[in-house]
Amino acid sequence: MIVSIFAVIALLCQLSLALDNGLARTPPMGWLSWERFRCNTDCKNDPEHCISEQLYKRQADLMVSEGYRDAGYEYVNIDDCWPAMERDKDGRLVADPERFPSGIRALSRYMHSKGLKLGIYEDFGSKTCAGYPGSEFYMQIDANTFAEWEVDSLKFDGCNSDPKDMPYGYPAMSFFLNITGHPIMFSCEWPLYEIMHKLPVSDYRTIAKTCNIWRNYVDVEDSWDSIVDIINMYGKDEGNFSAAAGPGGFNDPDMLVVGDYGLSYYQQKAQFGMWALFAAPLMMSNDLSSIGADAKALLLNKNIIAINQDPLGNQAIRLFEVPGSLSVWVKKLASGGLAIGILNVNNQGTPQKYTTAFSDLGFTNKNGYVAREAFENKLLGKYALDEKFTIYVDPTSIYIMIADPL
Ligand SMILES: *[C@@H]1O[C@H](CO)[C@@H](O)[C@H](O)[C@H]1NC(C)=O
Ligand SMILES: *[C@@H]1O[C@H](CO)[C@@H](O)[C@H](O)[C@H]1NC(C)=O
Repeated sequence: MIVSIFAVIALLCQLSLALDNGLARTPPMGWLSWERFRCNTDCKNDPEHCISEQLYKRQADLMVSEGYRDAGYEYVNIDDCWPAMERDKDGRLVADPERFPSGIRALSRYMHSKGLKLGIYEDFGSKTCAGYPGSEFYMQIDANTFAEWEVDSLKFDGCNSDPKDMPYGYPAMSFFLNITGHPIMFSCEWPLYEIMHKLPVSDYRTIAKTCNIWRNYVDVEDSWDSIVDIINMYGKDEGNFSAAAGPGGFNDPDMLVVGDYGLSYYQQKAQFGMWALFAAPLMMSNDLSSIGADAKALLLNKNIIAINQDPLGNQAIRLFEVPGSLSVWVKKLASGGLAIGILNVNNQGTPQKYTTAFSDLGFTNKNGYVAREAFENKLLGKYALDEKFTIYVDPTSIYIMIADPL
């Protein structure tokens, strides 16, 4: 008890802006099962795709053999539908014995032996979104269980709860995780549920002291409409939530659907590029055993990953948009340079011409800038501050430029 009181005082006294657990100093990268594999528990008929230890092991093996781990993707995250329907006699969660016969600790050790990390999922409410046992009244027991299992990350959902409890409940869970002494990256769905229930949104700086990453909008779906909808929400930046992003804490626009069914190559490029500019967690939700070569090359693009992983942790803001057409986004980089995204949501079949000058965009370095196209890392040239230049942005796609002051 005394230990707990000191820990609370230590937590309250922390001066840092973000949750101080040493994690997510840059946006976390990895793989998460939800968008692609959902709550498929039918291992009898669909053994390759059901939520089971085999699924996570198989994706982990591919993350290593296909170069994803070496490119920075490190978390392998379980989502909903992993536990048995009942807690054990001591109130502890147990993994579904048929689908996870080796148990979660064996799975986390498997990940660690491959240089990867294991993430798990629970819910702040009485039940998870899919109806499995929730953490309400069991938060400390669950935090201890996850630490004993040597789990490295927790996604804490908000179904079947009263979101009015979140400003107390999420910090409580964060505290229980902290006092296990085992570092666990904390992925929250506070403030998403406040927004969905039309409640006042908690202060993002308070959220950033509680969570390493936090969802603030609806689930991503495998469609271009979903991607554009999320991007627009981030463009509006209501409550200035972009300002809360930085080392230790990031806004989470949800998973990457690159490599799935719904987006064209150009649209996948737009999602990946925008998520990089947003300093968003890069959590792939795809089947790495059947992903196409183009999608794979995108996900492994070092230049775009470097924008995402920039140590400043700055989140791009929208400078302006022409609704239905081009919008311009800027992310500040630790080097003093800028990553500039020009997104084209227009689908009129031909690349859109865009002529501008750095001064038109509001930049002020009097010697001008040297510019590179980011996907190919291709030098474009040096431009004086007022000098016009022209680029072409593919339909429903993105152009990203890195501009370094001269
Ligand atoms: C717990 O919080 C303290 C104070 O913020 C921090 O120094 C420590 O690293 C945290 N420990 C874990 C395991 O998260
Ligand atoms: C958002 O917050 C940042 C950092 O505190 C501040 O510089 C900026 O002016 C704010 N923007 C708006 C629109 O309030």
